[in-house]
Amino acid sequence: AVRLVVLVSGTGSNLRALLDAHDDPAYGARVVGVVADRPGIGGLDHARAAGVPTAVVQVADFGSREEWDAALAKAVGVFTPDWVVSAGFMKILGAAFLARFGGRTLNTHPALLPSYPGAHGVRDALAGGARVTGATMHLVDAGVDTGPIIAQVAVDVTDDDTEETLHERIKVVERAMLVEKVGRIAREGLVVDGRRTRIGAVA
Ligand code: GAR
Repeated sequence: AVRLVVLVSGTGSNLRALLDAHDDPAYGARVVGVVADRPGIGGLDHARAAGVPTAVVQVADFGSREEWDAALAKAVGVFTPDWVVSAGFMKILGAAFLARFGGRTLNTHPALLPSYPGAHGVRDALAGGARVTGATMHLVDAGVDTGPIIAQVAVDVTDDDTEETLHERIKVVERAMLVEKVGRIAREGLVVDGRRTRIGAVA
């Protein structure tokens, strides 16, 4: 199966959904490592419960953002991933990381990009008065949520939505999209700008 490393910073419900999917050999992808930017988070608990090895690479342990980014790339590289999935990872991936894993790192974002990029996609959509928002999967490039879009799913905003209620509704469809698309990419490769990238072993 295609080897996945998942990057997490929080609850890890998207990771949990991938871990639920990967036991089926027909899925075509397996989470072989989980890397976090902080200890003590739900995502690491999900990994441990599934018997998947973890690593924590904290910015505070390094003298600069560049050194942290290089250490993150090294920690991910230990697991020899075919694809990297950023699932609720709340840091920008830098030059060293992208030199190694660019073109094979996927991110999921809780808004319909190119609208509402950044760390507060749900809050910003509400503040902007959006009536429809959703989730986007895209390839990571050097910008903030600017890489080629792979899939999107829409969610209606209701009048009484708070950031929390809206984000929970987004996350339900986001998880389903992530699991479906990652599996498809593992099995069939990914076409971006008319070119098919097929990385890793096929189940
Ligand atoms: C997800 O909604 C993801 O799109 C978002 O964080 C949530 C993580 O949930 N990511 C970002 O906002 C990145 N800018 P999870 O930890 O339960 O998977």
